[in-house]
Amino acid sequence: MSERHRVIVGVGAGIAAYKTTNVVRALVKAGFDVWVIPTPDSLKMVGEVTWQALSGHPVYTQVDEPKSGVGHIELARDASAIVVAPATADLLARITHGIANDMLTNVILAANCPLLVAPAMHTSMWQNASTRDNVQTLQDRGVRFIGPVKGALSSGDQGIGRMASEDTILSEVLGVFASGSWQNQKILVSAGGTREPLDPVRFLGNRSSGRFGVEIARQFALQGAKVTLLAANIESSLLASLPADITVIPTATAAQMHRAALEHFPTMQVAVMAAAVADYQPVEFQTQKIKKIPGENQFSLQLRPTADILADLASKKRTDQLVAGFAAETGSWEQVLQLGQEKARRKGADIIFINQVGESAGFGDVATKVCAVDQQGRQIGQFAGDKTQLANQLVALIREQIP
Ligand code: CTP
Repeated sequence: MSERHRVIVGVGAGIAAYKTTNVVRALVKAGFDVWVIPTPDSLKMVGEVTWQALSGHPVYTQVDEPKSGVGHIELARDASAIVVAPATADLLARITHGIANDMLTNVILAANCPLLVAPAMHTSMWQNASTRDNVQTLQDRGVRFIGPVKGALSSGDQGIGRMASEDTILSEVLGVFASGSWQNQKILVSAGGTREPLDPVRFLGNRSSGRFGVEIARQFALQGAKVTLLAANIESSLLASLPADITVIPTATAAQMHRAALEHFPTMQVAVMAAAVADYQPVEFQTQKIKKIPGENQFSLQLRPTADILADLASKKRTDQLVAGFAAETGSWEQVLQLGQEKARRKGADIIFINQVGESAGFGDVATKVCAVDQQGRQIGQFAGDKTQLANQLVALIREQIP
């Protein structure tokens, strides 16, 4: 980072505060000047010493505290972004109504920079009419909401109200600083794994979670792009974590995804096909459940190839459009690279991101290594990291390659 931006991390009194320690660490590591302002009650969850050690700055909870340090006006004036995580129902209410009764709410009131909040509370509090009104008011004022998401709550219940993951919060904060580079560009992203139905209860599918494609869609959206996501069987909680302005089109099968891709591609500047698409579909869909035949020791299915969506878009693309795809390969890294380079030459896409998949690599929430090659199979980039970091780097590489 050329200039060190100041990011203020506000911490509300929620159990999720311990996760915010990871956000602070990651922001410091990314080169930001991070100041943590906990609410007085939140110190019961994570103490002052921890925040001080992680941020490298003194920690103040009240405005009359910083006798020889920085005051709330100074902190607010020099802040480039404020992120509140966890944001409790009480804290959202105080921010909405301009109540400034501790250091954090004073700084928020005095600041003139983007404000992001990651709510965390029980479902009943999130759905309460007061909270709904406060959320609406804050959104209307341009406050960015990160989550909450569905999942296990500290009460032991399940439901909406869980704080968004540390990765999501981090990428939303990073997005504030990257915003503008894709302003108003239209981007098509496919993600997930298609399912080809055999009968009313069975399908041929794959183990793709859709997480990588979802992260790519998120990065584009955070940088100002208008994103259309073709989502093949992605868990709803993962989709719920996306910025609300992404258009999500459910495309369960390869054929549905192909149709939707052809419909939307002409108006897009970039298409990134990250979905794991079935190469074959059953020749016939059985309307009744297929029955086991007693005594038969073999069972055959007749399959026919699906359309190659990536190759089709690549063949139709105009000179002002860019098409990127993935090559998910198994084997040693050398074999993976070679297979990916052959695929790049075959498919005609501008960029192929080659990654290694298998039992423990590439699917789900794991670190991955990716190599980018052009249409001729020449290496144009190599990246490693978790899916959020990779998505960031991939989006940056696409930016460099744009016609
Ligand atoms: N893809 C596609 N349509 C298909 C199959 C794949 O658009 N019917 C796209 C994927 O979204 C990905 C790229 O093609 O961007 C490569 O997918 P992959 O499964 O690695 O390759 P395949 O073409 O299916 O080849 P193979 O299974 O033989 O490795």
